[in-house]
Amino acid sequence: MFKLKNKVAIITGSRRGIGKGIAEKLAQAGAKVVISDINQKDCEKTAKKIAEKYKVKTLGFKCDVSDKEEVQKLIKETVKKFNKLDILVNNAGIFFQKPVEKQNEEDWDKLIDINLKGVFLCSKTALKELKKTKGNIINIASIAGLIGYPQASSYCAAKGGIITMTKEMALEFAEHNINVNAIAPGAIDTPMTSFIKKNKKQYKQTLAAIPLHRMGKPKEIGNAALYLASKESDYVTGHTLVVDGGWISQ
Ligand SMILES: NC(=O)c1ccc[n+]([C@@H]2O[C@H](COP(=O)([O-])OP(=O)(O)OC[C@H]3O[C@@H](n4cnc5c(N)ncnc54)[C@H](O)[C@@H]3O)[C@@H](O)[C@H]2O)c1
Repeated sequence: MFKLKNKVAIITGSRRGIGKGIAEKLAQAGAKVVISDINQKDCEKTAKKIAEKYKVKTLGFKCDVSDKEEVQKLIKETVKKFNKLDILVNNAGIFFQKPVEKQNEEDWDKLIDINLKGVFLCSKTALKELKKTKGNIINIASIAGLIGYPQASSYCAAKGGIITMTKEMALEFAEHNINVNAIAPGAIDTPMTSFIKKNKKQYKQTLAAIPLHRMGKPKEIGNAALYLASKESDYVTGHTLVVDGGWISQ
């Protein structure tokens, strides 16, 4: 079950955190993975570790997802090295909290450029290759795209945008047999959320909001991505899979 042998996957923002967790799960299932992020050295380091651990071919390649030329280079280099592309995981993202009144235009533009435009640019650019393989796209959204998260207006807007864009792209790409799905994680233990654990009160409040009473692990998002990347989910498209320990089910 969930075999990805001979598949080629790009995971954006995968030098660490959820992206790395996804890359590991896909590699464990046999996929060749491209580790892509903003720092070339970190990409190479993570790619090397995954290659050694799971005995698969990997590539570490720097790409800022908000930069059209860098995205084009990422797809080009992937196909040059592995001859094709089967799976695109749009995972790269940033997070900050600022009330609307204190958030300036630059803050807003930066977050939307990376978290939302990045998904559009990567999907658009990868499309030609994904058409050839009848591949699939997995977008990492957030429960903050389904409910409000305090002082995170641009983040909520971007993640909500990803969820509706996922539905739209699923419709548009269905004729090419390209499935497009999203994952909406709850609170996952990564460098992005380290601020929660550092603040005792906030950590306690977060755990209290989660019925399973713990933060998730990157590999648990990896498991969801593995399902959506596999043949077993061939009839699932346009869906957002919530992986949040029950947070928004209350
Ligand atoms: N951790 C959580 O609780 C949580 C919850 C819901 C959704 N998410 C989403 O999951 C994804 C991964 O988050 P994470 O928790 O692993 O955070 P993280 O900060 O550990 O990882 C995000 C990665 O994206 C990279 N990145 C930032 N800007 C980039 C750019 N312009 N181009 C390419 N890469 C870029 C960072 O360098 C980093 O390696 C994000 O989209 C985030 O919004 C996280």
